[in-house]
Amino acid sequence: MTQPAFHRIDGVLHVENVSAVDLATQFGTPLYVYSRAALTAAWRAYAGACAGRRASVHVAVKANSNLAVLNLFARLGAGFDIVSGGELARVLAAGGKAENVVFSGVGKSAEEMRVALEAGVKCFNVESIPELDRLNAVAGEVGRKAPVSLRVNPDVDPKTHPYISTGLKANKFGVAFDDARAAYRAAAAMPNLAVVGIDCHIGSQITDIAPYLDAIDKLLELVVQIEADGTQIHHIDVGGGLGISYHDETPPDIGDFVRTVLDRIAERGHGQREVFFEPGRSLVGNAGVLLTRVEFLKPGAEKNFAIVDAAMNDLARPAMYNAYHAIEPVVERTDAPQVYDVVGPVCESGDWLGRARSLAIEPGDLLAIRSAGAYSFAMSSNYNTRPRAAEVMVDGARVHVARERETVAQLFAGERLLPD
Ligand code: LLP
Repeated sequence: MTQPAFHRIDGVLHVENVSAVDLATQFGTPLYVYSRAALTAAWRAYAGACAGRRASVHVAVKANSNLAVLNLFARLGAGFDIVSGGELARVLAAGGKAENVVFSGVGKSAEEMRVALEAGVKCFNVESIPELDRLNAVAGEVGRKAPVSLRVNPDVDPKTHPYISTGLKANKFGVAFDDARAAYRAAAAMPNLAVVGIDCHIGSQITDIAPYLDAIDKLLELVVQIEADGTQIHHIDVGGGLGISYHDETPPDIGDFVRTVLDRIAERGHGQREVFFEPGRSLVGNAGVLLTRVEFLKPGAEKNFAIVDAAMNDLARPAMYNAYHAIEPVVERTDAPQVYDVVGPVCESGDWLGRARSLAIEPGDLLAIRSAGAYSFAMSSNYNTRPRAAEVMVDGARVHVARERETVAQLFAGERLLPD
């Protein structure tokens, strides 16, 4: 049996064959650590379920855009889902190919469109009529036809956190279901666009397949109407959004999810179309941890605080979404645990990483914040002039520095004092 990517040897957390204590000692804290084996296994779960089917996987770059992570996926044969010109540049720098890139996002600039057209991306996932107009104009200037898909808002409730639910009528995303047929007619009439597909993305951290199937059924209904109007739909992009287990969630297994989606599309008579998946979190989320060191313990009348050296600037998800990340001591102690709020040094009451956690810890101890591979480093900031953490990728017994720790000098290198 191969070891799980994160496991304990004599009570000490290891990432593959490397002790987390050694990682923290060598690279300092806060430190993001990714397991190459865990990333690869998640990719293979998607790719394996797609094998032999007309289906492909586009990694949502926003979840973790580190070049080493993208490079690993590119080597494994991944396509990519991007939302900015910056993400396109990262994909190309990481060895990805533009022809395997879908460009999502609700507010693409003309410049981003131009660069993506010239690079030759596979598809623009367009979200409004004004965006169609802009893309048509830019494509005319560049002298290329832009391949487009319209992101349709199927108005289904993915039953996830309101900030990460995107397929409801009340969300800013996509073309309203009732307007989609007309929007496709408009797109088909634009001389510099080539309609190639249809897409949706109903939310993130979804732990139930039912809303996907509802969204797919609605999309397929539309596909029939669009084709009746004379426009061919080659691919159906079902977006990303599959959840992971942070705490006690029980999301569907990746392979089951992919097969259920593909089977549904085939059963409805659309098996000849290519299907795209755009997963982010389910590929990278549980392949990373954030290591942090306890600076002080601060017992209080109402609460005990464990003040650690990672903060909301390193991991924003608890502050932003009230998100739960498991927190474990790197080295287990046998003392009786106490209940702590685990908080960072940033000057905000919202700077917390975990609340009411039962931990046996002392100052100087290391903690591992689990499930920190997705939307963690990628959402980090320099608030409080805190340099962003280093990122390393463990591969068996080897450790690759995927991103050096920032220095304070880098943080204000682009700033200027006033002139005399
Ligand atoms: N495709 C599109 C068009 C998206 O907007 C997203 C994520 C994905 C794919 C990937 O979704 P995933 O498989 O990762 O759920 N920062 C939030 C999550 C925001 C997700 C935004 N869109 C969080 O930390 O929970």
